[in-house]
Amino acid sequence: MAARTVAAACALLVGMCVAANSAPVDATHAFCKIVWLFGLPCDQVNVAIVTQLKAMGSYKLGPVTAAAIQANHTSAVGQTESVNFRMASTAMSLGCHVEGSSVSAFWFSLLDNGTNYCNLHNVIQGSGLAKAPGFVEFTNEWLCLGVGLSACK
Ligand SMILES: *[C@@H]1O[C@H](CO)[C@@H](O)[C@H](O)[C@H]1NC(C)=O
Ligand SMILES: *[C@@H]1O[C@H](CO)[C@@H](O)[C@H](O)[C@H]1NC(C)=O
Repeated sequence: MAARTVAAACALLVGMCVAANSAPVDATHAFCKIVWLFGLPCDQVNVAIVTQLKAMGSYKLGPVTAAAIQANHTSAVGQTESVNFRMASTAMSLGCHVEGSSVSAFWFSLLDNGTNYCNLHNVIQGSGLAKAPGFVEFTNEWLCLGVGLSACK
């Protein structure tokens, strides 16, 4: 059922297929995977995400390349999550396809109230990238645990 829903979304939203085809990261840890499309070149998207991560005190920036950004997030309750963004230019137009993932470090944070969703969503909102032309955010309960429960601050 979930696979069918994703396949339908994949057909509707060009470029979303990468997320649909890769299995959830690790079912024993809370996780979230989001795919975004931006009508901007990837180098611009990369700079905006890095700038935002540096501006938010709860993130510790790790290795950054043109195609990937790694950071660790520490939440208020002292839990840590590994946050990754991977970007690739879209075939059509001058767009950028970004796949974000956030994974909790501890198995006991499986029910995370949308922490992993907010870790990703808040960065994109805060960076202003959500206002980019052609902006699309795609995820669902299958790719992103707790997305339905999340109330990002
Ligand atoms: C993020 O956390 C992992 C696992 O604890 C660690 O190996 C890595 O060095 C950390 N990265 C940063 C930038 O703190
Ligand atoms: C999730 O929310 C419930 C109810 O507000 C709270 O009791 C619980 O501690 C929260 N869990 C986490 C991991 O934040």
